[in-house]
Amino acid sequence: MAHQVDANAELLDYVREFSLRDDDILRDLRGETSGLPAAQAMQVMPEEGQLLGLLVALTGARSVLELGTFTGYSTLCMARALPAGGHLVTCDISEKWTRVAARYWERAGVAHLIDVRLGQAAHTLRQLAEQSGPDSFDLAFIDADKANYPRYYEAVLGLVRPGGLVVIDNTLFFGRVADPEAQDPDTLAVRALNRLLATDRRVDLSMLPMADGITLARKRVPAQR
Ligand SMILES: C[S@@+](CC[C@H](N)C(=O)[O-])C[C@H]1O[C@@H](n2cnc3c(N)ncnc32)[C@H](O)[C@@H]1O
Repeated sequence: MAHQVDANAELLDYVREFSLRDDDILRDLRGETSGLPAAQAMQVMPEEGQLLGLLVALTGARSVLELGTFTGYSTLCMARALPAGGHLVTCDISEKWTRVAARYWERAGVAHLIDVRLGQAAHTLRQLAEQSGPDSFDLAFIDADKANYPRYYEAVLGLVRPGGLVVIDNTLFFGRVADPEAQDPDTLAVRALNRLLATDRRVDLSMLPMADGITLARKRVPAQR
């Protein structure tokens, strides 16, 4: 059995050279974001953005939920893959970051598909449960504060329809999940979610050791449980 390839910098360059579908808008957004504090750790990697767009297209998602907008790179990648009439709700606590995002969504011609909710994600999730009801999203991407990941997952799973997909970012959390010395609240929360997911019969699962770890959890339809 082949082992996992160690994705060193040279291989990552190779992946990008032979698979990345880049353009000026994405490049400019990455460029502007790279000048912001903590940008490196915040923005999804370009190949992850592309994967998110592909997942939206593959699943035929028409309604997408995102926790953690930042400067809108993942939002942009997913919104571009939506069909006409699709929509994406994205939430963040920072008006400053989302204002940057809005310029790029406008430039890409997808701003009209995107609904930004400013405020605590937990609050927005409660609002959405009241306004849209359960099973109202086809795909959700969780990429906000890590300490609340287990809580976000539970709420998001209720909002995604059976057969829909929950995508969770940073599930390897810079390798810290496998380091017993790492006991900070963020690592503990990501570990707790990973432990829950491992045996969660409500979803089918794949944990991709790509970027900072991306978990795909497909909500099972009741007959499949
Ligand atoms: C990792 S970044 C998201 C990156 C984004 N997906 C991208 O591709 O650029 C996490 C974001 O979550 C936001 N955030 C942090 N705590 C939050 C909370 N309690 N509720 C909502 N958003 C929060 C931060 O402001 C930050 O913009």
